[in-house]
Amino acid sequence: MNESKRVLSGMRPSGKLHLGNLMGALKNWKELQDEGYHCHYFVADWHALTTDYEDTKEIKENVMEMAVDWLCAGLDPGKSTLFVQSWVPEHAELHLMLSMVVPLPWLERNPTFKEQLKEIEGKEIFNYGFLGYPVLQAADIIIYKAHYVPVGADQLPHLELTREIVRRFNNLYREVFPEPEALLTEYPKLPGTDGRKMSKSYDNAIYLSDPPDVVREKIRTMMTDPARARRKDPGNPEICPVFDFHKVFSSPEQISWAEKGCKTAGIGCVDCKKVMGDNLASEMKPYFEKRAEIASKPEKVAEMLREGSDRARKEAGKTLKEAREAMNI
Ligand code: TRP
Ligand code: SF4
Repeated sequence: MNESKRVLSGMRPSGKLHLGNLMGALKNWKELQDEGYHCHYFVADWHALTTDYEDTKEIKENVMEMAVDWLCAGLDPGKSTLFVQSWVPEHAELHLMLSMVVPLPWLERNPTFKEQLKEIEGKEIFNYGFLGYPVLQAADIIIYKAHYVPVGADQLPHLELTREIVRRFNNLYREVFPEPEALLTEYPKLPGTDGRKMSKSYDNAIYLSDPPDVVREKIRTMMTDPARARRKDPGNPEICPVFDFHKVFSSPEQISWAEKGCKTAGIGCVDCKKVMGDNLASEMKPYFEKRAEIASKPEKVAEMLREGSDRARKEAGKTLKEAREAMNI
């Protein structure tokens, strides 16, 4: 049953992936793959250009780093089609065709567009390509006639826009594309080491490429409940980022030990972090080892992406033909 349903998702090549990416998006992608869906996962390098067109030096390397992490996380090129967006130029042609039928106000009112224009500092992104970001995303999705798109909540407006574009295209010409549905990814709460959202740009992330000692060291220096300035001061685990990690990586006994010990000042933060840090380091060790092995053979990774992209091109080409015929072009 699942075999007949197509799943598609993409990630912008931000370089090495962190624990938040692993426990959220990647874990979910792997589950869908293992449940037998026909999965397509790609590195959205053109989308990276929309905000980073001025400095493109690292894009290629970031694409490769990301692919290495995907393999580490268990995405399997024998089961899923793993590819690079710009290696499947069919996306660009469909994007162009869609751009003819998308009314400008749909794009101007896109909340992501408005937010990012305000938020992204030091980059000039008031560009044609940036405005069209969701049109390219729609092309990415519908060129595989995807049924499901696993994404985080921030991407829901883009998915809604994709559905609107599909309806408009199908009405204007003929029924070519199914309306894709978002599959909302649940992210466990895993803040960065400073308590803010885990992010590469805050320099507070734990990476799949971090060796076990680095993982332990990052946890050792992690922020805690500031109320526990001294060993005898009790704390509140619910506001401590270390405790968020306990909830994901520790046993039920360890969790209640940490909770009680924190509230009664029965344990110190050093002990508390030690237990969690050891759990995390051993959980992550297999990824680290696998990563080192995969990263040592970059040509194999590139070849895997080439094969995946060829497969994707075949599928995309078929849909493109239908779209051209529908548009009489
Ligand atoms: N916009 C997505 C993000 O920033 C990445 C992306 C590009 C994507 N094309 C896609 C996600 C198609 C899902 C489907 O995370
Ligand atoms: Fe956080 Fe543990 Fe310290 Fe409590 S004891 S503040 S949960 S590190």
